[in-house]
Amino acid sequence: MLDAGKTETLLEVNNIEVIYNHVILVLKGVSLAVPKGGITALLGGNGAGKTTTLKAISNLLHSERGEVTKGSILYRGERVQDLDPAALVKLGVIQVMEGRHCFEHLTVEENLLTGAYTRTDTGAIAADLDMVYTYFPRLKERRRSQAGYTSGGEQQMVAIGRALMSKPETILLDEPSMGLAPQLVEQIFEIVKAVNEKEGVTFLLAEQNTNVALRYAHYGYILESGRVVMDGPAKDLRENPDVKEFYLGMSDEGRKSFRDVRSYRRRKRWLA
Ligand SMILES: Nc1ncnc2c1ncn2[C@@H]1O[C@H](COP(=O)(O)OP(=O)(O)O)[C@@H](O)[C@H]1O
Ligand SMILES: [Mg+2]
Repeated sequence: MLDAGKTETLLEVNNIEVIYNHVILVLKGVSLAVPKGGITALLGGNGAGKTTTLKAISNLLHSERGEVTKGSILYRGERVQDLDPAALVKLGVIQVMEGRHCFEHLTVEENLLTGAYTRTDTGAIAADLDMVYTYFPRLKERRRSQAGYTSGGEQQMVAIGRALMSKPETILLDEPSMGLAPQLVEQIFEIVKAVNEKEGVTFLLAEQNTNVALRYAHYGYILESGRVVMDGPAKDLRENPDVKEFYLGMSDEGRKSFRDVRSYRRRKRWLA
């Protein structure tokens, strides 16, 4: 079990600002710490800045005309802002992109093997393929199928499995629940948990689905409009009245003046 008091911080994001197209300020000073061996959730609604934060970490913003203009990003204490994504993979950090992105014309197995492209220990790759298949038996059944013809859930499994094939220390997982039926979401999160516990892989996962993410994560950060507005152990966030009201859709106050209460409380807390 993760012991926050003793664990080393693997990834540290310090007060970063991200601007798109030289003018659009999207992240307005985001800081977060990802402890080794933990599952950390980055929560928030659509457009809050979750994907931008993950892409800033894995240096994928350039292709979108985005830039980190302030702050620093450290991995094991080392500045990683100027590394290209392949160098970051070598350091042990890999991102699973939002929307899955398989190579549709390759088979499931060929897709998984592309994840090992930076590795030189070819002998161990077959063993790791078996490891991936133990977590995703479904992918073993489908290994000769063309990835483009597999279901959304299977493609999400392929995307995570491919990341595992790079032997990562840390996986940045963007919106794994997106577009999947609740049962499948649960299955994916169970696998994330198992990989975390048994392989010791550290996760930073971005999720709009606060409910499921806070049940599996150890710690959470809530982003709103490019700022962290709240953070804490997942258990505390789950029990926090504002989180319940804003993100979990549970409120003791009823729905009558939901909007008013919400904007009032937000103004009071975030801006006062
Ligand atoms: N390439 C881009 N160019 C300009 N604005 C962008 C770009 N990508 C995202 N944004 C804007 O940045 C904000 C945060 O987006 P994003 O990081 O994708 O949020 P989330 O992943 O939390 O839904 C949104 O307002 C979005 O419109
Ligand atoms: Mg996103």
